[in-house]
Amino acid sequence: MIKINQKIEQSLNHKTECLILPCLEIKKPTGLLKEIDDNLQGVISAALENKRFSGKPNQTLLLNSTGSNILLLGLGKVKEVTAEKIRQAAATAVKVLEKSKFKSVAADLGAFETIGKGKSGLYGELAGAVAEGAGLALYHFDNYKSKDENDDPPIRLEKITLLITTKTQQTAVEKSIARAEKIVNAVHIARDLISHPGNTVTPTYLAEHAKKMARKNKINCKVLGKKEMEKLGMGSLLGVAQGSDEPPALIVLEYNGAAKKKAPTVIVGKGITFDTGGISLKPGGGMDEMKMDMSGSATTLATLELVASLKLKMNVVGIVAAAENMPSGSAIKPGDILKSMSGKTIEVLNTDAEGRLVLADALTYAQRYKPKEVIDLATLTGAVLHALGHHAAAVIGNNPAMIKKLKDAGEATGERVWELPLWEEHEKATKSDIADLKNIASPGVGAGTTMGAAFLKPFAGDQPWTHIDIAGTAWGFDRPYTNKGASGFGVRLLLNYLEKTR
Ligand code: BES
Ligand code: ZN
Ligand code: ZN
Repeated sequence: MIKINQKIEQSLNHKTECLILPCLEIKKPTGLLKEIDDNLQGVISAALENKRFSGKPNQTLLLNSTGSNILLLGLGKVKEVTAEKIRQAAATAVKVLEKSKFKSVAADLGAFETIGKGKSGLYGELAGAVAEGAGLALYHFDNYKSKDENDDPPIRLEKITLLITTKTQQTAVEKSIARAEKIVNAVHIARDLISHPGNTVTPTYLAEHAKKMARKNKINCKVLGKKEMEKLGMGSLLGVAQGSDEPPALIVLEYNGAAKKKAPTVIVGKGITFDTGGISLKPGGGMDEMKMDMSGSATTLATLELVASLKLKMNVVGIVAAAENMPSGSAIKPGDILKSMSGKTIEVLNTDAEGRLVLADALTYAQRYKPKEVIDLATLTGAVLHALGHHAAAVIGNNPAMIKKLKDAGEATGERVWELPLWEEHEKATKSDIADLKNIASPGVGAGTTMGAAFLKPFAGDQPWTHIDIAGTAWGFDRPYTNKGASGFGVRLLLNYLEKTR
């Protein structure tokens, strides 16, 4: 991971391979920028005059003058700058610089003085956004690439120094960098878990990962295997797992950052380590992507680790329902009826709607904690891609105030969520003719994402509950600070939500 540090130093004096100069939208250089421009024989004013650069958000221009490399980086209009804009700009800059094969660069934070209006807190927050955006952008997953002796190893940007001017800023910036490092680390853990293929990340692997992580972080960890689940009557989760040779796991993590009696937030993650569709087999093209069907569980595990490493003063429980969905002689078939832990019976009309089956029992299990609120994260429906594309996750729940807060957290972090409705009519459409519920609605009902949530609702309890469908955002979420593939969507969203609401 990239190393980020800070230093009190005049950017003109700093020796670095390249200096990033964040600029607001401007016509002429003023202040520090003017000084630098004068020193570099007017390259900046020339770029502005020739309209090669204007400071629009995420615009970059790499300049070289008198032996110095400078990257002009647009931040847009001062009134429109937000932490998210800074994350995106910083990410854009470091990607450009890594492509240009720089290894160590510095960034001048002078522009933040104008934006922060002398408030060290805001200055620190913006510096933290630089660290976060840069750290997230430089994620690489090359665990499976052999080192080819004939091929030069890829050049990675290894270090960024944030240049600041005063001691007050220094304390704020130091804190923000340390926090950003923890956030980036957690998102990268989620991305790694998602990027590994299904023959590495099995339910057992997730359980081992959780145990190790819990030991490091003062979190209690319990893993229920098939036998324990049988005792609890988790027929719905076990039904999904029965077609696979990989044993299922229900992973439970308890973080106590507040008094034991304080009701926890319970986060539940879908952990299908590979989704073939089962007997209702998916088409072959693109099926490999279904290794990401455990993204909800990756987000859950990474969020718990992050909450613990930031020592947040709250209680949070994470529950992961892990199984592999395979077709085989022992697999469930369309028409089979499962009995869930709640006692409700479920007619399985499509074995590819397996996420809701494993979540049903995990949500019932969550009720043991008498939670303050429950959030479940799941790559539940392809339909969410039709509704929202890769740009936002769908949220559906039983408490408008909770959804509003999640929406705010989404705006703040850039991990947007958008509400879809859940009406009585939808709930009625989950009733089966011969069992209590059916796992898919009759043809023609539509509203695929809502129907997933409608199925979960009877298992979710009466306390505030929100279901987050991340099928469109866990993979292919397109931001300057993401890369192809796994995004780790949800970790930053949940952290912001928890910090703002507890
Ligand atoms: N894991 C899939 C959903 C999915 C689709 C995730 C695309 C990521 C990208 C889920 O288990 C599934 O197959 N859902 C079905 C539900 C249907 C049978 C009601 C779907 O979306 O087609
Ligand atoms: Zn499926
Ligand atoms: Zn699935």
